[in-house]
Amino acid sequence: MTTRRLVITRSAAVIGAASTGLLLPQIVRAQSSKVRVGFMLPYTGTFAQLGVAIENGFRMALEEQGGKLGGREVEYFKVDDESNAAKGVENAQRLVQRDKVDVLIGTVHSGVQMGIHRVARDTGVLNLIPNAGVHAATRALCAPNVFRTSFSNSQPTLALGKPMIERGHKRAVWITHNYAAGEEAMEGFEQGYTAAGGTIIKKLGLPFPNVEFQALLTEIASLKPDAVACFFAGGAAPKFLRDYAAAGLNKTIPLYGSGFLTEGVLDAAGDAANGVITTLHYADSLDTPRNKQFRLNYAKTFKMQPDVYAVQGYDTGLLLIQGANKVKGDLSAKNELYAAMEGAVIDSPRGKWTMSKAHNPIQDIYLRRVEGRENKVLGIAQKAVADAATGCRMA
Ligand code: PHB
Repeated sequence: MTTRRLVITRSAAVIGAASTGLLLPQIVRAQSSKVRVGFMLPYTGTFAQLGVAIENGFRMALEEQGGKLGGREVEYFKVDDESNAAKGVENAQRLVQRDKVDVLIGTVHSGVQMGIHRVARDTGVLNLIPNAGVHAATRALCAPNVFRTSFSNSQPTLALGKPMIERGHKRAVWITHNYAAGEEAMEGFEQGYTAAGGTIIKKLGLPFPNVEFQALLTEIASLKPDAVACFFAGGAAPKFLRDYAAAGLNKTIPLYGSGFLTEGVLDAAGDAANGVITTLHYADSLDTPRNKQFRLNYAKTFKMQPDVYAVQGYDTGLLLIQGANKVKGDLSAKNELYAAMEGAVIDSPRGKWTMSKAHNPIQDIYLRRVEGRENKVLGIAQKAVADAATGCRMA
């Protein structure tokens, strides 16, 4: 009733204003102005390549639909977050307050994401997360205006333990960077691995983004586990793969990982990555027309091969397009916009996925093995994996 009355009153006002010529020019200007899209991503530092892939993917999704959102032109704003958690709030505020973006797309690093999250909750700005998996964003601190198109940190590793046990690896060492993403990836791994009958005999870590792995590799050699499982991403990943092989460990102790370990780094890692088995929500070699078409277009447009980060950026574009089309470009119609994004089915290169009530993808997790310069898919490790969403109460 209230809504209906409001609509009638508003249209009466518009008609009245039109006849006097007072209000109409303002309304026309508001609708024809550009949608302001802000990228807060790492463009320098260990995750720089990830930020670029996400932006590329996002832009490609929009270009495939004429470059517009709900019929409106788009204006882009950019901030390099440097994967620096200490500047997370300040950088997000720049986009929201100075640039007045309608939507903030960011970011990669879980610690920086918490800064964005504070600003998103304080200001109500729409935030689409194209990577960072920090649990709080879609668990205890979930919010109506925050949507993730990537994964929660424990999602990819939940499915890793079972294939390790199937291959006879019952005692494992876990190793990662000591920050939210590594610790939460470990939670997923521990849950799946222990449920399958495995034991983590030691958890090792080093500060983000250090890559001095030598002492830890020596410790792994002396622990003699059946296998090693890890979370490393960005610039650290090929360095870890090369150091692991240079220490000779790849000959005696099989290496497993959250699939980020082998994303976008296979040229840099060379033969050191061969045979490494991982779990992730994407694989280069997915044999579907959708994936092939995406990979071809991306390679043609950007003169490089896409990876999971490019897919996540692309899907962020697809999600926003679906929402913006529903409200005909009026992103201030928040209830309708959010409802459209909540109900979205994303026809992704990774396979179709849906949005959970907590605003995190429900998606298949693939088992992959590096062969040559490709993540070859071995099968689906776990179907339709949803995050636990513990403590999420939408306001
Ligand atoms: C994270 O910090 O959440 C993160 C970063 C890079 C990845 C995955 C997760 O590849």
